[in-house]
Amino acid sequence: MNSIQTVSNKAFSNIALVKYWGKTGRQYPLNPSLSMLIPQCYSSCEISFEFDEKNPGVKSFLFENMENEVFSTRIKKYLRDIEDVYPLTKKLSLAIKTSNNFPHSAGIASSASAFAALAKCLTDIEISLGIELEDAQKRSSMLARLGSGSACRSLTSAEFNLWGKTLFEIGSNDYGTDLKLTPTQQEKLGWPLLDTILIVSSATKKVSSSQGHALMHTHPYREARIEQANENMRVLYQAIMNGDPETFGEIVENEAMSLHALMMSSYPAFCLLLPNSLAIIEKVQTYRRMTGLNLYFTIDAGPNIHLIYPEKQAAQINLFIQQELSPLCETIFWGQSYD
Ligand code: DP6
Repeated sequence: MNSIQTVSNKAFSNIALVKYWGKTGRQYPLNPSLSMLIPQCYSSCEISFEFDEKNPGVKSFLFENMENEVFSTRIKKYLRDIEDVYPLTKKLSLAIKTSNNFPHSAGIASSASAFAALAKCLTDIEISLGIELEDAQKRSSMLARLGSGSACRSLTSAEFNLWGKTLFEIGSNDYGTDLKLTPTQQEKLGWPLLDTILIVSSATKKVSSSQGHALMHTHPYREARIEQANENMRVLYQAIMNGDPETFGEIVENEAMSLHALMMSSYPAFCLLLPNSLAIIEKVQTYRRMTGLNLYFTIDAGPNIHLIYPEKQAAQINLFIQQELSPLCETIFWGQSYD
């Protein structure tokens, strides 16, 4: 066979509720993490491939129809690094095109959705060549993990996805595990939950996630953090299973604060939160106290605030965001449900 074939896929970004922070070995997490998809943010990937054992590898790479040296270098390195688990890279010539449905420099991390979409394509190539896979989702998730840890949690259609071995015998360090809710659990938790992203600043971060992960190796609170994340995971899992939105929110906010506390207490220490990030947190907590609505915040490794709330409370909460919080941010990526 030497004809050109094409596969294409799209994958959503995800937001961690229990945070992955620190890694070990070959992209294994120091602690288990749990996330939900962000349906309004996704990446698309298309790969055209053909056998070419003399000139294997990436023949061309386009991001949003343009050449992109930084992304192209990262993808080429990734494909070289996974040669042992994905030997087809030594035989195929690949023309890769990727894009995001959100602006690249908006302050929303795109590596999770980008590597998830790419990994799905790599798995589809195997399937189209007749390679039998035991579980295609696990295979894509494992391949995505090797590109970016959090990407392995984007290969899911379940409400939540869990990555890393937990103390209660659920989860794997190799790939993400679906956490599917029953209709009763959905109802009690207020599913669908939205994630509205408040971009406080879209400027490039002064410390990357990779640098942050590396600082966990020698962090004075490393062991305490592993213990805390495991305990938060246990409690959050219970809250999800029992449909307890208050405990859910308490853990989600504790994780966001803990992540940033770890950054501020590493050596060297750094702080990614900005004055407006703190002002938003304060307003969200006051609003929740006054209204009793299930509005919670989480934060990734940056100054931007993700607001998590049930779609059925959105009319009232969106008004609050528009009136009180939008003056504190550059842009808002309004939450959407994906069903
Ligand atoms: C704070 O997955 O971006 O968003 O594995 O080095 O690519 P790499 O790191 P990445 O780290 C994400 C860190 C986080 C928390 C999370 O998503 O769990």
